[in-house]
Amino acid sequence: MSTGLTGKVAVVTGSTRGIGRGIAVALAREGAKVVINGLDDEIEAASAYREVTESGGMALLYPGDITDERFVQGLVDETEQELGPIDIWVNNAGGGKNIPFLDLDDERWHSTIDLNLHSAFRCIRRVIPGMLERGFGRIINIASQLGVKGGYEQAHYATAKAGLIGLTRSLALEFAGSGVTINAIAPGRIQTEKTPGTARVSQAWLERKLREIPMGRFGKVEEVSATAVLIASTPGGDFYTGQTFHPNGGEVMP
Ligand SMILES: NC(=O)c1ccc[n+]([C@@H]2O[C@H](COP(=O)([O-])OP(=O)(O)OC[C@H]3O[C@@H](n4cnc5c(N)ncnc54)[C@H](OP(=O)(O)O)[C@@H]3O)[C@@H](O)[C@H]2O)c1
Repeated sequence: MSTGLTGKVAVVTGSTRGIGRGIAVALAREGAKVVINGLDDEIEAASAYREVTESGGMALLYPGDITDERFVQGLVDETEQELGPIDIWVNNAGGGKNIPFLDLDDERWHSTIDLNLHSAFRCIRRVIPGMLERGFGRIINIASQLGVKGGYEQAHYATAKAGLIGLTRSLALEFAGSGVTINAIAPGRIQTEKTPGTARVSQAWLERKLREIPMGRFGKVEEVSATAVLIASTPGGDFYTGQTFHPNGGEVMP
């Protein structure tokens, strides 16, 4: 079935590696023109650019800090100038280190909320008017299962991701019927370069974590990017809005 993504313009924040990169590559394979963004890892950025263009897609590399509103303005302007109006925006850049609640200071609380939640709010505010004018748009917010079930020593991160799900649902209501859909993906533990491997954690820890996942394994990046392609697609994705998708091997069943 056609995904209707040929020629669509997609921006994926935090797409030089991990899940974001997988989504960028998957959208490019479907014929989308993709903007790759990451913070400061130039080697990964160049490698992501190569992978996306080799997937048959047209790509633009625009590195910089997505929490900086002026940077977002430049990213949007340059994308529209080089590739055309933005059809798909994926708020993927995010993350958060484990910090026990009693050690959580204002700086680490705010920076985590800023990266995982405020930046999505600011990006959506900037791109959604054009989508509404054109009667088509796909906003995809990458949340986390911790935003649904909470996370041990992850109050800051889980709060931000829960907020992202709330933002998704609220915007879906406000813009329903406009042609612009807003959905979230709340992955479980996905195997990426940064997923704790045996080098950094004990075998016992790894085995315990795997036992928490009914399927008994971490997820693959492709299992998240396939969900993003479905949501972005048209007509296949047209009737989903305000939804949170849960690729998590059964770990959380909301
Ligand atoms: N992996 C999982 O198991 C998992 C599970 C649930 C949810 N998630 C969510 O899925 C998303 C991707 O996770 P991941 O594990 O794939 O992440 P990752 O491997 O750590 O990659 C993060 C990406 O975001 C970029 N980035 C970080 N801060 C940025 C900023 N301020 N501005 C622009 N780009 C920035 C990084 O660029 P640099 O490399 O240059 O810093 C990198 O490209 C995150 O929102 C995460 O919370 C992940």
